[in-house]
Amino acid sequence: MSLSTVKLTLQQKLDFLPAIASIALAGFYALLTGLWRTEREAKTLFLHFGYAIFRQATARLTPSQMQYILPSSDKIYERYAKKNHIQAQSVELGYGALGHWVGDRNATNVLVWYHGKHRLSKQRSESIAHYAGGGFGLPANMGYFKFYAHVIRDLQRAGKSIAVFGLTYTLAPHATYPTQLKQAVSAVRYILSQPNRDPATVFLGGDSAGGNLVGGVLSHAAHPHPEIEPLDLTANFGGAAMIAPWTLLDTEFPEQEIYHGGDIITQAVAQPWASGYLGNATRDNYTDLSNAPIDWYENFPVNQVLLTGGEHEILLPIIRDLAEKFKKGFQNVELFVGRRECHVAPIYNLELGDSTETEQGKKVKSWLTELAL
Ligand SMILES: *[C@@H]1O[C@H](CO)[C@@H](O)[C@H](O)[C@H]1NC(C)=O
Ligand SMILES: *[C@@H]1O[C@H](CO)[C@@H](O)[C@H](O)[C@H]1NC(C)=O
Ligand SMILES: *[C@@H]1O[C@H](CO)[C@@H](O)[C@H](O)[C@H]1NC(C)=O
Repeated sequence: MSLSTVKLTLQQKLDFLPAIASIALAGFYALLTGLWRTEREAKTLFLHFGYAIFRQATARLTPSQMQYILPSSDKIYERYAKKNHIQAQSVELGYGALGHWVGDRNATNVLVWYHGKHRLSKQRSESIAHYAGGGFGLPANMGYFKFYAHVIRDLQRAGKSIAVFGLTYTLAPHATYPTQLKQAVSAVRYILSQPNRDPATVFLGGDSAGGNLVGGVLSHAAHPHPEIEPLDLTANFGGAAMIAPWTLLDTEFPEQEIYHGGDIITQAVAQPWASGYLGNATRDNYTDLSNAPIDWYENFPVNQVLLTGGEHEILLPIIRDLAEKFKKGFQNVELFVGRRECHVAPIYNLELGDSTETEQGKKVKSWLTELAL
């Protein structure tokens, strides 16, 4: 849906001038000081510059301003399909969700991906205002499609065939928890309902808020959510990959030395996203996997779980805590931390135009290669 449908006031439009100036200034400052980068900042000057722009843009522009200038996920998918001469294949999944196929849908394996972004559409556009300052309001979606294409290509080189099925879910507050979880489950239900689809060939993956949904789907598969139709699984899922999972909806990050100079997000994103997703709902084991009792993880129907995080990300303490707890209840959990990497580096670096392999991206692909049938 076209984003020209987002209406801005004259004041918001005029505000682009000082906003752009401040973003340019942040970029210029990063370029200068970046020459003396330390281990706490990005590996390359280009990324250091890109992250600074990103941080400043998400902090300075309002979500509706960002929405005004950026295309929607569905548009990006169409553009991706056109550019790569493939036929766009989108599937209505019910509850307002859409799934997009990337790769050969008859591939032996399918990776269902939940991204950390929200679907932008006309009817829901106002809701983006609830994501002020967060990476969640920014549809950096071409990075996702590039990431999917790299996954498919690298597995193919290793002799495995995989397709990606990406979900776009609905924004709060037109939909709040548990709608997004319902949508995430319906994507999996759709994949499992394909003829001869063995659950061991189905992989779940997600980054940031999408990592929260991966945890929610596993939780639902093991402990059916009272408002969601149970999943009928005949075997375990092949695996679940959670990149920088956001599984603790506290409105503030834990007491720690927070340095965001090597990351792309700031603390400002926690409160808006948590309250946006929850609406009036209370937090539970599905929304906050980090707070679930250890026995909650025990019967997750999945062969392997991979958690990744970046050494520089402000969410890392939360990711580490989750991994530690998860391991106590569920044997096959692995945590991988990418050195000098930011929040969701495997995707954001691609979005910024740096296609150098990230440690996390490489790990996710080798993990998938090993587990895929
Ligand atoms: C996938 O399989 C379906 C049914 O088996 C078939 O109709 C379709 O042409 C196949 N698609 C591709 C891309 O091979
Ligand atoms: C939360 O509850 C209030 C009062 O009952 C209501 O006006 C509001 O629409 C609810 N918000 C959501 C997101 O459901
Ligand atoms: C979480 O799961 C446990 C069972 O493992 C249950 O006793 C508890 O009520 C759940 N808590 C929430 C908030 O859902």
